[in-house]
Amino acid sequence: MRRTSHLFLLAALICALFLLVACDTQQEIAQATVELTADQLKIFGTLAEEAAPADYEMSDDLIDLGRMLYFEPRMSASGNMSCNTCHGLNNYGMDGLRFSLGHTGNPVGRNSPSVYNAALHVAQFWDGRAANVEEQAKGPILASGEMGMPSGDEVVSVLKSISGYLPYFEAAFPGEDDPITYDNVGTAIGAFERRLVTPGRF
Ligand code: HEC
Repeated sequence: MRRTSHLFLLAALICALFLLVACDTQQEIAQATVELTADQLKIFGTLAEEAAPADYEMSDDLIDLGRMLYFEPRMSASGNMSCNTCHGLNNYGMDGLRFSLGHTGNPVGRNSPSVYNAALHVAQFWDGRAANVEEQAKGPILASGEMGMPSGDEVVSVLKSISGYLPYFEAAFPGEDDPITYDNVGTAIGAFERRLVTPGRF
């Protein structure tokens, strides 16, 4: 009985020692952080609420449609892959894989960069081959290794076959007779991406 209580005391002492050491290192870390003054912080500024040129016509209807399309797996050959598969919005806008997997489960040759703040970049893709997010969005849907749709026309006919989409396209592109077009798919997804701007300074 006495022996066990001694052991217990010893254990408690060791724990206390560990805690002391831990607190000490914590303090060291705290001391290593740099305090920025309000003036210094001004250099960084905040990001704009959306990344769009001034003459760009943004509307909530356009963004709502873009969000739906961003999560739409029926725009892929296998019917189970959307933009969000590789650029998960709940996963920092990417898939966390070294190489993304296409709709057939085969790796594509590159890693998926985050879509957050992508609209602010001067060019899209690792090699800058698309000029803006509207042009960019039309790429992966038709890329054989990604969403693998055979053509823009095929995407349009899939979307036209889903009756729920028409009112959303009409609201997003008012005044157009036949608003479900492949270009408009790109425009809507692009608009949604232009709102994927993180609020922080960094
Ligand atoms: C199979 C996985 C996959 C799918 C699905 C996919 N992407 Fe990507 N995405 C990638 C990869 C990989 C890259 C980098 C390719 C490159 O640089 O050539 C990329 C690049 C991008 C970029 C460029 C970002 C930058 O910093 O340059 C944007 C924006 C983007 N994708 C948006 C989309 C949208 C919108 C969709 C849906 C229409 C989509 N992606 C579907 C894997 C995917």
